[in-house]
Amino acid sequence: MSEVPERWRWFAEGRFGLFIHWGPYSMWGRGEQVLLRERLDQAEYERRSCLWNPERYDPCEWARVARRAGMKYAVLTSRHHDGYCLWDSRLTDYTSAAQAPRRDFVREFLEAFRAEGLRVGLYYSFMDARIPGFWEGPGGLPEEWEAFREYVHGQVRELLTGYGKVDVFWFDGAWPRSQAEWKSRELVEMMRALQPDILINNRLGHAEPAAAGDEHAVEDAGLAAEPGDFGTPEHRIVAEDRLWESCQVSTQRLWGYAIGERWRSADHLLSFLVEAAVRGGNLLLNVGPTPDGTFPQEFVERAEAIGQWLDVHGEAIYGQGGGDVTEFITYGWQTVRGNNLYLVIRFWHGGETLRMPGLKTRVRRAVLLTSGQELGVEQSRDFLTLRGLPAEPPTPLFPVIRLECEEAPEAWDWAKGRLWKHDPRINTQWAAARGRTVWVGR
Ligand code: GLC
Repeated sequence: MSEVPERWRWFAEGRFGLFIHWGPYSMWGRGEQVLLRERLDQAEYERRSCLWNPERYDPCEWARVARRAGMKYAVLTSRHHDGYCLWDSRLTDYTSAAQAPRRDFVREFLEAFRAEGLRVGLYYSFMDARIPGFWEGPGGLPEEWEAFREYVHGQVRELLTGYGKVDVFWFDGAWPRSQAEWKSRELVEMMRALQPDILINNRLGHAEPAAAGDEHAVEDAGLAAEPGDFGTPEHRIVAEDRLWESCQVSTQRLWGYAIGERWRSADHLLSFLVEAAVRGGNLLLNVGPTPDGTFPQEFVERAEAIGQWLDVHGEAIYGQGGGDVTEFITYGWQTVRGNNLYLVIRFWHGGETLRMPGLKTRVRRAVLLTSGQELGVEQSRDFLTLRGLPAEPPTPLFPVIRLECEEAPEAWDWAKGRLWKHDPRINTQWAAARGRTVWVGR
């Protein structure tokens, strides 16, 4: 990837953000798309949504959880596909400010998170599933479509004028309309004029009018022609040749609050973060707050555990750099920061030594970062052997060993090819040392 501009370095180095999917849909407890997926009665959904009043919403508490989790930024759904706005929009009265709460939730969010030292972002859905003009587009209902498109542009303008600096703008729900239909180029120009430093994601609509298109087709089809400052692989961790951020749920599938949803364990969530860091990208980890405005306890516990781990091992995660230098996949992951190679170990086997193949660079010193203990280092041409590892796992999450190398860590060519790709004959001599027969003792 080419050099990251200075104004976006916080993103490239921060690595870890919080995604918050919250709105009246939380009352149904079946995820953020319940209106659309279940084609609920529109009038009834709207009636209940106008009464929604999450009195326990305290974004200062949310921000504390995020900071303690080691997150560097957060993105809140200012409006999802159901059309309800969490800010005081002058373009509609379907807002938290005009309805029961009488509060500007977006403003409170932005202020609280900034005060906690985090960068702030807003998710905004193009789609408003209530609006026939959205579904029909310019071909079907030209006037309604045009009014709705202007509404969208107007709302984005509101969010970028009345609320101070917004670091990230996160579009979604452009499907089934194209960039041309949304006038995405104009939209982006307006946004950059208002907020020159803003990072805009890639979900700005299809390149061609694509009534039959699928939202992820653009993502899958190759990214070069796509606009936006960063890619957003969803439920997947794949590197892109630009800034990117994998968004992941902390439950099994849904983004919005879901009653009885199953939670992924802290180590599962942490593995997402490590894998993103290995591939040089970010993790945007989602929480769906409850209808009364609190984070589910399951999330808080996991966030806390990850934060404690990052307090000790953060140097292996934050900052630019990749990983995956040599053959280590059976043990865990490797990240590189300068001349340090970090081994993030998935399981602790309890033995006194750990043997890693293929590292060409000389190692000066090895430290078990988790406890600060210095480890013994022996290095032959092909193998690094670390000694003095404790029998008990030093943390319930992933222990990390920092290898302080003489130069930027590099592998021998055979190890770059990994076990299955290098010349198989390098194993011949090693095998022949035993003999040449399938029989034992002949
Ligand atoms: C999908 C879903 C949407 C969610 C988004 C987050 O596009 O449609 O509900 O907000 O993913 O990336």
